[in-house]
Amino acid sequence: MFTTNGSPFTGTIRTISCRPRARLNTRRGVLSHPISRSPTTMSSTSFVRPSANMIGVPFAWQPVASTASWRLYSTQPAKMAAFEALWQTRPGAPLTLFAIPRPDRERNSFYVGLPRALSLLVFGDANATVTGLDRIAPPDRPPLLLTFFSYRLMVLLGCLFVVLAGASLTWGLWRKVPFPPCWLRLLTLAAPLGYVACEAGWVAAEVGRQPWAVYGILRTRDAISRTVPAWQVLASLIAFTLLYALLLWVFLRILLRIVRQGPEAPERAGY
Ligand code: HEM
Repeated sequence: MFTTNGSPFTGTIRTISCRPRARLNTRRGVLSHPISRSPTTMSSTSFVRPSANMIGVPFAWQPVASTASWRLYSTQPAKMAAFEALWQTRPGAPLTLFAIPRPDRERNSFYVGLPRALSLLVFGDANATVTGLDRIAPPDRPPLLLTFFSYRLMVLLGCLFVVLAGASLTWGLWRKVPFPPCWLRLLTLAAPLGYVACEAGWVAAEVGRQPWAVYGILRTRDAISRTVPAWQVLASLIAFTLLYALLLWVFLRILLRIVRQGPEAPERAGY
């Protein structure tokens, strides 16, 4: 499974949004950078290494993905069934690409899936039987819609990053001319999506394990501490929120300073 923290493009914000000329523009935000008004002189070959990494890593991780699928399925089958909106236990289970789950009817509308791919991914056997939600008692199932769509959003964004990196790599290798400004703008807009994918992954993982705090052993509602009163929970929540807001502020200041400094020349950066 692919749980990289942060977009592949997060680290390239300064590469794509700043040229030396941009240093003069210290009061402008990232998205109002001159990119939008003049063609960049930034070499497209500077994208080759990050793009190649972005594409290579998921492929290199395929054996790990298979093992991780098995581990997820064997430890939390309800979560896997919710990720896939798999209502019926069945041999040769498909991998869901898109669906609109209908929990009230225990079925899906507009289902699109890859036949037998889930069985293959989890068991390495296209005909193996995968447990569906029908084998999970309703009170033991996670909230389906939030689990399903947050998981889909994460995977969709992961695929989008690979496509963006693939197109950049192709352009950088075959056409040794600068990227068109509209492409750079698109990559700049994609930068925050890594954070969205992380949050979606976290929601999928956490909501997907409900109603359990310890899967199959301790329910979340039974895990409430009797020794820590509610006001202390609230106080620590407020304290952590303030602390993280401060860290976010420091992070943004440092990020913007790096963006304004602009990139190193490609040859010095080693690309
Ligand atoms: C491209 C396909 C992707 C697949 C197949 C995938 C798969 C998964 C799975 C199965 C989980 C749940 C693990 C568990 O509950 O034990 C997960 C969690 C997560 N994923 Fe993804 N993921 C993908 C892309 C991404 C991307 C692009 C990001 C972020 C940039 C991301 C960030 C996360 C995070 C933060 C978690 C929560 C980890 C945790 O709290 O334990 N994932 N992912």
